[in-house]
Amino acid sequence: MDAKRLFIVANRLPVTISETKGVNPCSGGLVSAINSYLLHAKESSGQSFNEIYWAGVPGCSTNIWDNFSGQVKHSDFELIPVFANNKDYDGYYNGFANSVLWPLFHYFPSYAEYDAEHFQQYQLVNEQFATALAKQVRPHDVIWIHDYHLMPLAKLLRKACPQLTIGFFLHIPFPSFEIFRLLPRSWQQELLEGLLGADLIGFHTIDYATHFLQSMQMVLGLDSEHHVIRYQDRLVKIDVFPISIDYKYFQDAYDTEVISRKRLALKEQFAGKKLLFSIDRLDYTKGVYTRLLAFEQFLRQHPVHHNKVHMIVVVVPSRDNIVKYAERKRMIDETISRINSQLGNIHWQPVIYQYTSLEFEDMMALYTTADVAVVTPLRDGMNLIAKEFVASRKDGQGVLILSEMAGAARELTGALTINPNDFGEMADKIGLALEMDAAEQRQRLERMQERLRAYDVSTWAEDFLTQLKVIKQKQQSFQ
Ligand code: G6P
Repeated sequence: MDAKRLFIVANRLPVTISETKGVNPCSGGLVSAINSYLLHAKESSGQSFNEIYWAGVPGCSTNIWDNFSGQVKHSDFELIPVFANNKDYDGYYNGFANSVLWPLFHYFPSYAEYDAEHFQQYQLVNEQFATALAKQVRPHDVIWIHDYHLMPLAKLLRKACPQLTIGFFLHIPFPSFEIFRLLPRSWQQELLEGLLGADLIGFHTIDYATHFLQSMQMVLGLDSEHHVIRYQDRLVKIDVFPISIDYKYFQDAYDTEVISRKRLALKEQFAGKKLLFSIDRLDYTKGVYTRLLAFEQFLRQHPVHHNKVHMIVVVVPSRDNIVKYAERKRMIDETISRINSQLGNIHWQPVIYQYTSLEFEDMMALYTTADVAVVTPLRDGMNLIAKEFVASRKDGQGVLILSEMAGAARELTGALTINPNDFGEMADKIGLALEMDAAEQRQRLERMQERLRAYDVSTWAEDFLTQLKVIKQKQQSFQ
């Protein structure tokens, strides 16, 4: 295989373009992970791609794209916009991807809204991705497809160009078969067959890979041997690649002038107080509501901490066209207002709340000032916030409270783990974290930092692309 061109394919491009706001970078774990890998990819030794492309939906019309895309300056890769009309995009994104796959794969089956038209729109937009890509790709190119929005795409691309090297990575959990089987049978088949168009299918954890293999067996009757499935005339490998972050970037950021200044200002503002910190996209999977209930319980049980501790809660707006998201926002707002009005006083507001996205420097200042980071998702594929917090603590101080329902819990073994449905346990761990001595904090952080240093986002991507190359070579000898 002599591939020199890499195509990253994801629902989102790394920028959004709008008539009023112009060109802006996109946030989200997937985009920032791929972005930081690509920024280093040209210098990295393992894979030498001399042309890199990124295909995704730009979130604007063709006209606006034509007017503004000239302003997108990115020397490291070229963007390929995939245009879908608003109605189809709505059915694909808000409808099937985020109101069926997202709730189901995160174990919220009662939130799933099955609608045959949305499934058709999901397939249609995937076909539009395939058409846009088919115009650009050559047989020896490497295509790396990301996430649940694009499960049918590998099969469509394989049909258009059979020789392509195609990898697929799922950024969310793959649920147990008992959950997956709730999808109508024909949808189950189409999603799984869609993925089998890839040569390599990657997951964050061994549990997700195992669930996937079980669904393959139950739905398509396909067995695997050493995580390899023989499908039609090809070999498809299933493997585990826990996504990570740019560890060095977070460590180095600690000492920058702006972040040091912002940290000092926070320390002065909260002198004599302990700070708990959380930041999440608005999502019912993130456990913000239950985290607040646990904090409330902690305060009610420990009046000694009144006036001495704040929980800073940052919620980043997301998917607000979906009812369940708007509903969650209301629950969070009401709970914070109750805690502050019932437990706080004129001089002390227990919860400090922002519903906004944060600039990197402000987020870093909070990561590096907080005594405790509280990451309590009810279910999460990985959770990069937990990893960012650990990486940012160059001072060796700070405690991570982490849900055992996050993929990250498998790697971040120095965290205080909690079950996010156990408010009592969460309240106890908040108390433990606030009292943990400096030596224990350092020892726990070091253990986790060692892991993140060894397996950062570049290692993750290199590992995936190397395994993709290996399986493609095996496949050629198999044929
Ligand atoms: C999760 C998904 C990503 C997605 C991100 C932000 O991390 O795995 O694919 O991009 O959330 O969500 P959004 O719907 O805003 O793209």
